[in-house]
Amino acid sequence: MSLTPLIASLPKAELHLHIEGTLEPELMFDIARRNGVTLPYQSVDEIRAAYDFHNLQSFLDIYYAGAAVLLHEQDFYDLTYAYLLRCKADNVVHTEIFFDPQTHTARGVAFETVLNGITRACEDARREWGISSLLIMCFLRHLSEEAAFETLAQALPYKDKIIGVGLDSSEVGHPPAKFARVFEQARAEGFLAVAHAGEEGPPEYVYEALDVLNVARIDHGVRSEEDEALMERLIAEQMPLTVCPLSNLKLKVVGHLNQHNLRRMLQRGVMVTVNSDDPAYFGGYVNQNFIELAAALDLSEAEIRTLCQNSFKASFLSSEEKEAWC
Ligand code: ADE
Ligand code: ZN
Repeated sequence: MSLTPLIASLPKAELHLHIEGTLEPELMFDIARRNGVTLPYQSVDEIRAAYDFHNLQSFLDIYYAGAAVLLHEQDFYDLTYAYLLRCKADNVVHTEIFFDPQTHTARGVAFETVLNGITRACEDARREWGISSLLIMCFLRHLSEEAAFETLAQALPYKDKIIGVGLDSSEVGHPPAKFARVFEQARAEGFLAVAHAGEEGPPEYVYEALDVLNVARIDHGVRSEEDEALMERLIAEQMPLTVCPLSNLKLKVVGHLNQHNLRRMLQRGVMVTVNSDDPAYFGGYVNQNFIELAAALDLSEAEIRTLCQNSFKASFLSSEEKEAWC
């Protein structure tokens, strides 16, 4: 029996979503046209054809190039509003959105321009559809510690609009410990912390994210399975992993979805969740991730329900809000 109707009907939270990764080729073209930006593609089809990645870096090069069309507050509003419409369609009632200020400030776009556009769309979605959102500001780990400190300083006046800090971009060669002092200051300022670790990087990076950055969640974390002691710790601490199945497939972290370890980790008691990461680039929003994973791993109805409940348990909602959804 198809689990698609169940997946569609269950309320869920999304905890691993880069807003820049929701830029669909059609919107990329529209925004490029109105901003007078020339894209290295002639058509939407040509853009989609370029989305053939062999690892994380080959994706990031194209992803940062696409984000270059975003210049004005309205661009960030339109981007975010379009994503929130997809949340409504997928019954995502709560979302914790990553944004990468350095991708934009490096091009001369003001921090406030980015934040105001995203925030205004989130407020509209809450009012119009009751979808709640929280924002997580990510540091680009291929850049310096100094650049991350500058970004943190820019965020301080907006603490009420940003729940936490994260760490993304090229993982291998940029271990979490590179940002130990930045995360220490961020946590002292009251930000929660998350970090991408164990996507392409080794289990040691997951340990560092936990022990040095003091994160509340690990983004991806799928390579944790290579270290039995780490697995036991993740289970004992109920440390959430925000897993992104279609991303792992498209970036060749796994060869086929039927080789994905999410079900094994779930069955061992790891607090895993399902998320879309960069859905415009990886071929599906959150429900599509559930649908393809359920088919590839033969997930049961009970497992789908547990994954949706996990998405709220692992969220940064208050305990009362979590209880309302679980
Ligand atoms: N930025 C956007 N998507 C990412 C991913 N999957 N890993 C690291 N950085 C990212
Ligand atoms: Zn990610």
